[in-house]
Amino acid sequence: MKFALVTGSTGTIGSAICERLAENHISIILAGRNLEKLKKLKEKLQTKYTTNEYFIFVADLRSKTSILKQIEEIIYKNNLKIHILINNASEVPKIKTITQEGLECQFAVNILGYHRMIDYLLDFFENNSRVVNVASYWAGDLDIYDLQFNKRIYNNNTAYRQSKQAERMLSFIWSQKLKDKNIWVNACHPGDANSKLSNDLGFGGHETPFQAAETPVYLAISKEVQNITGKYFENKRNVPDMFIKDWETINQLYEICNQYL
Ligand SMILES: NC(=O)c1ccc[n+]([C@@H]2O[C@H](COP(=O)([O-])OP(=O)(O)OC[C@H]3O[C@@H](n4cnc5c(N)ncnc54)[C@H](OP(=O)(O)O)[C@@H]3O)[C@@H](O)[C@H]2O)c1
Repeated sequence: MKFALVTGSTGTIGSAICERLAENHISIILAGRNLEKLKKLKEKLQTKYTTNEYFIFVADLRSKTSILKQIEEIIYKNNLKIHILINNASEVPKIKTITQEGLECQFAVNILGYHRMIDYLLDFFENNSRVVNVASYWAGDLDIYDLQFNKRIYNNNTAYRQSKQAERMLSFIWSQKLKDKNIWVNACHPGDANSKLSNDLGFGGHETPFQAAETPVYLAISKEVQNITGKYFENKRNVPDMFIKDWETINQLYEICNQYL
């Protein structure tokens, strides 16, 4: 039984990713923050794809305690091994929001959320596991000295672009750290789908959720990308990533994220 853990599984692109994985006979740990939505998704997948197993992982990615609790309760206690991690959950509050841990929300969820999930799951990955970080081509504006908008005026678009740049940079450094363990890490732009997140940024989306799920699912299961690591993909194609050239900033970012583990 092959297991994938998908964050943001109840979202627009996340639920399409789960459906495609389930079709491909992959069992899923459905991660999300809303238990009712997770139960509905589980029920729907269970009815359609009966041979897979499904677990619910209910955690608010704003909170380290919440993530660690579910790793203990769901992954550790059920003795689960993970073949695929898809970091997909992100949020873009319109006003600057501080989490209970005292962190700016997009930094906490979109950046640390991805970093923490990889780090905390290290002991549970199978040989030849894949990590897919759902990032975006809408990326940039990273200020390594002001990751939490203490100096800059918060704007949800700028904070989002920064977080997506950070995800791509973190994918690269994790790919280098994990290649000797045969864990392959890549980032991608999914597609442009109309979602709460895209609406909160002032966008719509011209692709269906299933179209948007194609590249993440390709990176998660296709034989074509077996053993490929440290790359960035759009439309199922590897494209050069300008953000992985600045090794010094990548290292700084990695070290900053490690301080919050
Ligand atoms: N849509 C696009 O055009 C587009 C383009 C480029 C990149 N992306 C990327 O694609 C990914 C999915 O976005 P989407 O468009 O599908 O957005 P979405 O429909 O708003 O889904 C976001 C998901 O993240 C979950 N989430 C948000 N905050 C969370 C938290 N604190 N803890 C746990 N889960 C949390 C949401 O949970 P709930 O279901 O409970 O709300 C939801 O499932 C994101 O990483 C986004 O940056 C999207």
